[in-house]
Amino acid sequence: MANILLLKYLHITLALTSISFFVLRFLGRQAEAQFARISWVRVAPHLIDSLLLLSGISLAVLYRISPLQTHWLLFKLILILGYIVAGSRAMKAEDARSRVFFGVLALGLVGGVVLMAVAKY
Ligand code: HEM
Repeated sequence: MANILLLKYLHITLALTSISFFVLRFLGRQAEAQFARISWVRVAPHLIDSLLLLSGISLAVLYRISPLQTHWLLFKLILILGYIVAGSRAMKAEDARSRVFFGVLALGLVGGVVLMAVAKY
């Protein structure tokens, strides 16, 4: 049980780090800041997000819950998919309006992910 709790805290820490990185990169890109182009700043989110996914899947396995039976987990996964798509569009879009649109959409979706995780509707 203590190990599951530890994994859950790791998962929450990775989730907060992932969201902070996204906001920083997004703002950096908007401001055309030099740090947003540094290679480790571009690579680190992929590593953090992979660990976030892995820890989430491990939690689901340890809790013995499946998205097919647990609706909040299914909704959470759908929102995560939307967050990934909107987030990558926000980073790749060439014009500022689409960048802002997809950036704000991605933040709204990931906010929904956190709500779903905490409230478990
Ligand atoms: C953007 C990605 C993600 C974010 C922001 C996120 C966020 C969170 C947060 C904040 C919690 C703690 C909820 C609480 O206080 O009880 C949590 C728990 C959890 N997450 Fe995630 N998560 C993400 C991805 C995933 C993925 C991909 C899975 C599974 C495939 C997953 C499965 C779980 C499970 C099983 C729990 C434990 C719920 C419980 O303790 O009852 N998460 N997540």
